[in-house]
Amino acid sequence: MSKGERRVYEARMARTDPHSFADAAQGRTRSFDWRARVDFAAKLLHAEVTLELEQPARGGAFDLDSRDLAIEAVTDAKGAALPWTLHPAAPILGARLEVQLPAGAKALRVVYRTSPDASALQWLEPAQTLGGRHPYLFSQCQAIHARSVLPCQDTPGVRQRYTAALTVPRELTAVMAAASKGPGDSAGQTATFRFEMPQPIPPYLFAFAVGDLASKDLSPRSRVWAEPGQLAAAAAEFSGVEAQLKAAEALFGPYDWERFDLLVMPPSFPFGGMENPRLTFLTPTLLTGDQSLVNVVAHELAHSWTGNLVTNANFEHFWLNEGFTVFAERRILEALEGADAAGLHAAVGFKSLEESLSRFKDQPNLTKLRQKLDGVDPDEAFSQVPYEKGYLFLKALEAAAGRGPFDAMLKKWLATHRFGAATTDDFLAHVRAELPALLKQVEVTRWLDEPGLPPGFPRPVSKRLESVQQVGARAPTADEVKPWTATEWQLYLESLPHPSPAALCEALEKAYALTAAKNPEVLVAWLVLACESGFAPALPRAERFLGEVGRMKYLRPLYKALTSRRETRAKAREVFERFRPRYHPIAQQVVAALLKKEGA
Ligand code: BES
Ligand code: ZN
Repeated sequence: MSKGERRVYEARMARTDPHSFADAAQGRTRSFDWRARVDFAAKLLHAEVTLELEQPARGGAFDLDSRDLAIEAVTDAKGAALPWTLHPAAPILGARLEVQLPAGAKALRVVYRTSPDASALQWLEPAQTLGGRHPYLFSQCQAIHARSVLPCQDTPGVRQRYTAALTVPRELTAVMAAASKGPGDSAGQTATFRFEMPQPIPPYLFAFAVGDLASKDLSPRSRVWAEPGQLAAAAAEFSGVEAQLKAAEALFGPYDWERFDLLVMPPSFPFGGMENPRLTFLTPTLLTGDQSLVNVVAHELAHSWTGNLVTNANFEHFWLNEGFTVFAERRILEALEGADAAGLHAAVGFKSLEESLSRFKDQPNLTKLRQKLDGVDPDEAFSQVPYEKGYLFLKALEAAAGRGPFDAMLKKWLATHRFGAATTDDFLAHVRAELPALLKQVEVTRWLDEPGLPPGFPRPVSKRLESVQQVGARAPTADEVKPWTATEWQLYLESLPHPSPAALCEALEKAYALTAAKNPEVLVAWLVLACESGFAPALPRAERFLGEVGRMKYLRPLYKALTSRRETRAKAREVFERFRPRYHPIAQQVVAALLKKEGA
């Protein structure tokens, strides 16, 4: 890092992150060693973490973030007790753990237990797994849940390397988003798995999972992990991962994380994918058998550059992570499947953006790219806006600059800020330096700091999109659907009027058996249309699906569709009460809030 870059990095973080108590003026941790024993019976971790400081402490208060942790002891590296205070939990942020450090201290150790309600952890009963015989545990730390697993400076402005040792029941395997240091060491009823993360990461990328897991190589630098019963299907679905890696490297520069492994999660995983470094977490709903959802893998892979390498300095600049990543994802798709495929995905994304804009019509601030999140929980601000509006903004810049100059600017952005944290202003300064004319051509303030979409935003185009638009609001003919992939079907169904006449639903079901669709995007688009149109034969499938899958992208529209008609409103509530214990804590919160809002 050059001196200038160093200064930019220093000025970051703390006090500038509305979601963290960390204070840069008190110093910063640069690495940690974490040891945890997984207790499935009590649903908690017995753990200790030794945090190493970047510079010897000046002496005095040092603040860490925590949430629902039971602190047992705080010591220096040699085990001598240090004075500490666990402040009462604040809304959203959790509890500040204030430790008094002697001048010159280089490290501190915290011994603690997590809570069974830790917001980053989901504990699954054997019945909630595919095999049905073993329990499962996984973490999901983005955006601000790492603090419920370990006390830390939980802001993306602090990057750390780490070592870890996870002790688990001996019949289970532990994996982490880090390098494995060999197979588990068994001792009695337990086995200990060791890891090392050589690349410095922000806390939200700390991740692990424990379960009955097996793996299969996909390429020299990629393997897939899954429950044994799903491994073959997973390996077939993701066989194209090396081609994606090569395409991404050609676009964005060398892959800096050595390995790109995949972990297929249990069905309650609340996201489509999570870009945990070296080990991307993926929903099992991607296993359609036809590789039709591998854009999600491309997305998580793209985060290896946009997000994991150049990280949003805090979640007010979340669009720097997600908007750039959607852009990068579609560039990878374009390279591998052509511009029409990428354009079709952009059209689907645009539909979801329209939905978010209308959901937030009473909170227009949440439709700005640059956010003010003082007093706002990032989980509540979450929407498609940073993804799809961010994508459109970058498309507008690309169109104005021309692809060649835009790509050069992007590559240089990634190279200058690698392993760093960035704000929206950093990006603007970079564009101003690299392409001075560009900011005059595109209404940057309008894009970044005003709600909704600027007039003249670049509408997604694609030949394949036109073939869908041509059908309009009628049922397509057998000839028309012959070339359609799942994505065309999804777009067609989402573009129909909601509600549509029940007779149209009936005709579609009769001709195309959509209730039996294998692709979950198509199935959910269909079930939403059917529920909103009062097409009763689809209801049992909707209900069953809500008990099978915990991905929020599907829960939200399906529950909303059920609440949209008086006949099914009570059903929505009843189904949620029944399946609620299966959902991830974050998904439970999201659905509960939605039902409340919709008056169900
Ligand atoms: N990083 C996100 C998931 C996330 C966002 C977790 C915010 C927690 C807080 C991930 O990269 C993502 O965007 N996943 C998408 C994939 C899609 C855009 C291809 C998802 O889960 O649907
Ligand atoms: Zn993402």
